[in-house]
Amino acid sequence: MPDLKKTLGAKYLEQTKFDRETLSSRPGPKIAPAPLYKVYQDAQRVDLPKPVLAESDLGVLLQGRRSVRNFRREPISLEQLSSLLWAGQGLSAQAMGHELRTSPSAGALYPIETYLNVNRVAGLKPGLYHLNVQDFILELLEEGDLGPYLARAALGQQFMARAAVTLCWSAVLRRNMAKYGHRGLRYVFLDAGHICQNVVLAAEALGLAQCPVGAFFDEDANTLFRLDGQEESLIYFLSVGVKRN
Ligand SMILES: Cc1cc2nc3c(=O)[nH]c(=O)nc-3n(C[C@H](O)[C@H](O)[C@H](O)COP(=O)(O)O)c2cc1C
Repeated sequence: MPDLKKTLGAKYLEQTKFDRETLSSRPGPKIAPAPLYKVYQDAQRVDLPKPVLAESDLGVLLQGRRSVRNFRREPISLEQLSSLLWAGQGLSAQAMGHELRTSPSAGALYPIETYLNVNRVAGLKPGLYHLNVQDFILELLEEGDLGPYLARAALGQQFMARAAVTLCWSAVLRRNMAKYGHRGLRYVFLDAGHICQNVVLAAEALGLAQCPVGAFFDEDANTLFRLDGQEESLIYFLSVGVKRN
């Protein structure tokens, strides 16, 4: 392992710093943009019920939040799932031509897509889904008990196969990097962190257990969701389930 200063990460941070002398004269990135919304036109559409997040005390949620990897093998409700999805990426306002969401996003470019591996959600067939943000519906991509495959892709973390659902976040790099160039990658991961934390707190408010996952074999995970790993790559996961008391 090279000295910290010579690592790829350190070089990336160094080379993507803004500085006063060069900021205004930098050439813009030559990267074509990508559409703001992804839609699987041919997929079966599944309606989501209205999200319901009861009033909660933020201090209590922050104090109580913990990563939990031990779930009951019980379903969560579709209403609970809908509330988690809305907390992460729900459309919540319109301003200056932008449709804004529950999570902040650099330049309102929203480079993160939400996929799901559903193991146990009342009223949903187990399988892989995509969240259509604009219509707030799910698109069924593949039916089946795919939790074990996801767990294997995540370095064998078996709790992902026992979770009721895992939210799987991908990055559409072009959306962000067309505007911000190399620096845009920084914002992609910051966006994902915001989304995940919103969902974590919503899970806590709903009395559900959750655990974020950042350790996974990239190619296996992308292959499961048929993503090419270049234009779009999975970057972060959150398993959610019913708490064991
Ligand atoms: C970016 C990120 C990646 C993580 N990846 C994993 C993971 O792959 N597996 C896991 O069991 N926990 C994972 N965690 C959870 C951390 O282990 C956990 O947040 C940490 O131990 C602190 O515990 P707490 O969340 O209960 O406060 C991850 C957390 C973050 C923020």
